[in-house]
Amino acid sequence: MKITIASLMEMKAAGEKIAMVTAYDTPTAKLLDAAGVDTILVGDSIGNAVLGYKDTLPVTMEVMLHHTAAVVRGVESALVIFDMPFMSYQVSVEEGVRNAGRAIKETGANMVKLEGGGKYAEVARAITECGIPVCGHIGLTPQSVNLIGYKVQGKQYEKARQILNDALALQAAGASMIVLECVPWKLAKLITERLDILTIGIGAGPYCDGQVLVFHDMMALSDKKSPKFVKTFAQAGKLMQRGVKQYVKEVKASDYPGAEHSFVIEDAIIEKLSGKKGGRRK
Ligand code: KIV
Repeated sequence: MKITIASLMEMKAAGEKIAMVTAYDTPTAKLLDAAGVDTILVGDSIGNAVLGYKDTLPVTMEVMLHHTAAVVRGVESALVIFDMPFMSYQVSVEEGVRNAGRAIKETGANMVKLEGGGKYAEVARAITECGIPVCGHIGLTPQSVNLIGYKVQGKQYEKARQILNDALALQAAGASMIVLECVPWKLAKLITERLDILTIGIGAGPYCDGQVLVFHDMMALSDKKSPKFVKTFAQAGKLMQRGVKQYVKEVKASDYPGAEHSFVIEDAIIEKLSGKKGGRRK
């Protein structure tokens, strides 16, 4: 059955945690959906996780549209979230609404996510008023890396208060969900208790309504050192490398492909083609 915001709210009410993972392509989306992931985030983390950029800033609407449509094609149940890329909603409310509309119309995603708190409440409200569910994203916001770096946010009173106010402003603007990234767990717990809407943590401790991880981090597919909050759930990178090394070995030794991987043709046809027997010669 398709997961909706309403069913996620029912999970929250029942105390059932929400599992969210990123995906950027159809096979990964199918795998996550079949494994029981509740929501799939097509994150702008595609920039560093998949496309080889050092951060998320170069990711465009076109990239996000292309990959989100691929994810949607692989999903039956999970709720799919389109991550609004850098500068797709910051310039004006009108542009944010237009891009959120494209995200939903052109990909079939169910929700859009945007980074930033109170400053983006107006655009969040305008998008919600069009009938598009909005997920906020506060704390460490990677699109602001040049301003804040990649470090824990909200350890001091002023900053912690700002993050709480940002969460409240997004809720008041109509957001249905908020990602809390890299904030102290007690702050995430307080925010979760103060909000009616869903909180999803990444590096925000165990008391959020759900958790999100980047697929390539949790599966150890990246050669980069993961942040402290990432747990490796499978050494998929090592497993894949072993498989590829075995392939290279078998190709070099002419062990692969074997008869079982090859197609046959009648000998008579080959003889005719090679001109050995019965073939017409010029
Ligand atoms: O882009 C992304 O994957 C994200 C998560 C880290 C929450 O925004």
